[in-house]
Amino acid sequence: MTTFQFSQVPIDVPHVKTSYRRIHTAIPVPQSLEIFERLSDFESRSMHGQMPIVWDRAKDFQVFDKWGNCWIDFTSTIFVANAGHANKKIIQSLRNALDKDLLHTYTYASEIRAEFLQNLIEKTPEEVEKAYLVSAGTEATETAMKLMRLYADKKNKKRPGIIAFDGSYHGRTMGAAQISASHLERKWMGYDDPNIFRLPFPYPWDENGNSRTEDGNIRFSKDIDTLKAQGINLKEDISGIIFESYIGWAAAFFPTDYVQAWAAYAKENNILVTFDEIQSGFARTGPLFAYQHYKVKPDVICCGKGISSSLPLAAVLGRADVLDLPKIGSMSSTHSANPLSCAAGLANLQEIERLGLVEKSIKKGEILHKRLNNMHSKYPEKISHILGAGMLGSLILHDTKTKNNASFLASQICEKAMRKGVLLVHTGKESIKIGPPLTIPEDALTEGLDVLDEVLRECN
Ligand SMILES: Cc1ncc(COP(=O)(O)O)c(C=O)c1O
Repeated sequence: MTTFQFSQVPIDVPHVKTSYRRIHTAIPVPQSLEIFERLSDFESRSMHGQMPIVWDRAKDFQVFDKWGNCWIDFTSTIFVANAGHANKKIIQSLRNALDKDLLHTYTYASEIRAEFLQNLIEKTPEEVEKAYLVSAGTEATETAMKLMRLYADKKNKKRPGIIAFDGSYHGRTMGAAQISASHLERKWMGYDDPNIFRLPFPYPWDENGNSRTEDGNIRFSKDIDTLKAQGINLKEDISGIIFESYIGWAAAFFPTDYVQAWAAYAKENNILVTFDEIQSGFARTGPLFAYQHYKVKPDVICCGKGISSSLPLAAVLGRADVLDLPKIGSMSSTHSANPLSCAAGLANLQEIERLGLVEKSIKKGEILHKRLNNMHSKYPEKISHILGAGMLGSLILHDTKTKNNASFLASQICEKAMRKGVLLVHTGKESIKIGPPLTIPEDALTEGLDVLDEVLRECN
């Protein structure tokens, strides 16, 4: 099957003019092509393949180009802009930080870092006692791996084993890549860490695509048996387990009883429970963190993206005794806790509270999911599942007509919606994800969903 590529040839599309969307040029805009050419000439192609729009400005829930086109954004630039693009209070906090003439501090102390950390600990659940700040999500998951392994050392475990789930995504650096994806996708690394043990993700469907309603406790017992059959002594060989709070490409959550069974077992066996909340945190799925849906208390939480709604910032949160496992000076990086990132993070936390984004994510999430479920009923030949929670939605597609891999259909839908003024999350797989800024007004959310419905009807 040919891989889908968004057309780089300008196509005349029907003009759109509503209060929230404007398309009045060919798409891609002919004048934008030279920018794509320069990017193609000077940048690794690994960065390319996105929809052919040149972002000039993004404000709240809209994205603008230089040529007067404007889109409703259902991506939040991949789940970052939870408090809205270019949020005014975040910009003000950044301006104040800039005016202090302190652009970088390394690990030297700064007041803004102390203020942000105090707020972070106060506004997060009680299991969060300390934090460690970094710049990228992948650094946060690498750090969690280090903490789990230091814990194994402290507890005199025989092996520093970590349990991870195949198909998860935890970042692109080498350690994070070891706990991500599938064996085939990790082939380029040349080895599989012998102390990482992988379990299949319990998708809500079976090999034939039929819905699966397996009891989570039974699934958990089977996993324990599988690990034991590999000669693993869970108490002595395993230091931690890492869950991506929902599996990213599909927005599929684990069964609650399955996670609860693991959490109870981990507690009894001195195994640290880590949740990767990099995509799901900061009210994306309703509660501040998605793990709260499972009603468990993790030992370690990795955050990023929505923690600042803007600048590069990520964090590892957790119990004080776990965060204090590394020796003084043995866990830091040059750009950790940059003062501008801290200023953005602080204002973001305050905005989540001031704007009531937890409540809004729950309320608007109901509108989102009602509409998505309605689309499922209308287009069962194209949609097999609707997943997600709060202001995270995903449509899992199947192409019952052509029987082709539905990733092609998903890409076509993203392209058509883009031409009508709506940006959906293009996953490159048989899913489409929806994650608007949590600040989006209800009528703009509805307008964007109307466009998605129209595109689903038109796609054959
Ligand atoms: C669940 C999850 N973990 C880790 C990462 C990696 O974060 P970053 O791209 O900031 O390194 C991502 C990014 O998409 C993610 O979604």
